[in-house]
Amino acid sequence: MNLLVIGSGGREHALVWKLAQSKIVKKIYCAPGNPGIAMLAECVSIKASDIPSLKNFALKNNIALTVVGPEQPLVAGIVDEFEAAGLKIFGPSKAASQLEGSKVFAKQFMERHNIPTAGSVAFTKAEYKEAKRFARDALFPLVVKADGLAAGKGVTVCHTRLELSKAIDECLKHGVFADAGASIVIEEFMEGIEASIFVLTDGDHYIILSPAQDHKRIFDNDEGKNTGGMGAYALAPIIGEHNLGQIEKSIIIPTLKGMNSEGIPYRGCLYVGLMMTKTGAKVVEYNCRFGDPETQVILPLLEDDLAKIMLEIANGKLEHTKATLKQQYAVCVVLASGGYPDSYKAGKKISGISKAEQQPNTIVFHAGTTMERNTLVTSGGRVLGVTSLGDTLKETIEQTYQAVEMIQFDDMHFRRDIGRKGLFHI
Ligand code: AMP
Ligand code: GLY
Repeated sequence: MNLLVIGSGGREHALVWKLAQSKIVKKIYCAPGNPGIAMLAECVSIKASDIPSLKNFALKNNIALTVVGPEQPLVAGIVDEFEAAGLKIFGPSKAASQLEGSKVFAKQFMERHNIPTAGSVAFTKAEYKEAKRFARDALFPLVVKADGLAAGKGVTVCHTRLELSKAIDECLKHGVFADAGASIVIEEFMEGIEASIFVLTDGDHYIILSPAQDHKRIFDNDEGKNTGGMGAYALAPIIGEHNLGQIEKSIIIPTLKGMNSEGIPYRGCLYVGLMMTKTGAKVVEYNCRFGDPETQVILPLLEDDLAKIMLEIANGKLEHTKATLKQQYAVCVVLASGGYPDSYKAGKKISGISKAEQQPNTIVFHAGTTMERNTLVTSGGRVLGVTSLGDTLKETIEQTYQAVEMIQFDDMHFRRDIGRKGLFHI
């Protein structure tokens, strides 16, 4: 069958890489893709946000299944539009994507279904005064979250009244996040260790992929600004068999059942961001798609045919009852442009990728790269993701960094401690 993958980052390169190994896949198109993806698929220059053109492309090119990478088209309703045109697509409907698209919806949903998460209150723009009154008597720390999609920038941890007041003003008074900040959630700060779980589901049946940990801050030891993610590794030992049981029972099953009972079954990949607290795992956030860079470590650890699983889900019946996971570790180090997540220069020549890929069990995923006059250059904040697989976490970390050392571009920045937090829990 022919597939269409939507998106252009490291996550989409990992999706295309895994789908290209499927026996049932004949050809993959990717919109818009990137130079790494172009080695495995035919890239078509349609933006991920241009739903009408994507739909036309799928209709004209005999696409048996479309796989959506980023959240924006999902929240905008691409799945509903494709299905209305008789096209098969992997991802949640517009209504189900609210789990990521609206933090207010997600928090109220968790409250309705007794799913463990931080206690919270929500305020709309019209309730600005109430929000300010709440701020006067609040106990700290607290977290303020813009309701809608804010490209990872809508969350502020507040330690003082002044910070809280400012965060409320930014959203509800100054409209810094436009409509995405027209409502806010203020929630308790949870102490603990973050991890993420990815569930592939048709709404009733589900399979769980290897638990992973992202590294969101720009500098080592989780210091500096928040980014899209500077590296990830799986299997994260912080989520052992025992925790996984609790997570399934108190979070995954109630989430899927809850969505069903509200008439909005969840189909696709459900990303559950967790805080492992002293009193068990609690939900930090839901995302309606695969994580980036977590996908670059969880898909290389999956033995099963991903295209088959996704097709079963798009058809509404997941036949797989369990994921077959490699009993190995995977580590992905993101190579970023110096200056990211703030401003950075693009157009830097990249070298050493093929040498890095000669390292054992190593794959280099492209995120922000482009071809300029036959030369591969940087074009984004996160440029490449170097992933290696190995039998122990320590050895896998070392192997990944050996591959990283072979790649160069001007102002390249990467963290040197990806995966290290996992060594403390083994
Ligand atoms: P979110 O977009 O909701 O995942 O938030 C971004 C990041 O902010 C998370 O990955 C956490 O590191 C942090 N965060 C969000 N909510 C909380 C919370 N209630 N307690 C502690 N940290 C949080
Ligand atoms: N790794 C964080 C995200 O995909 O949102």
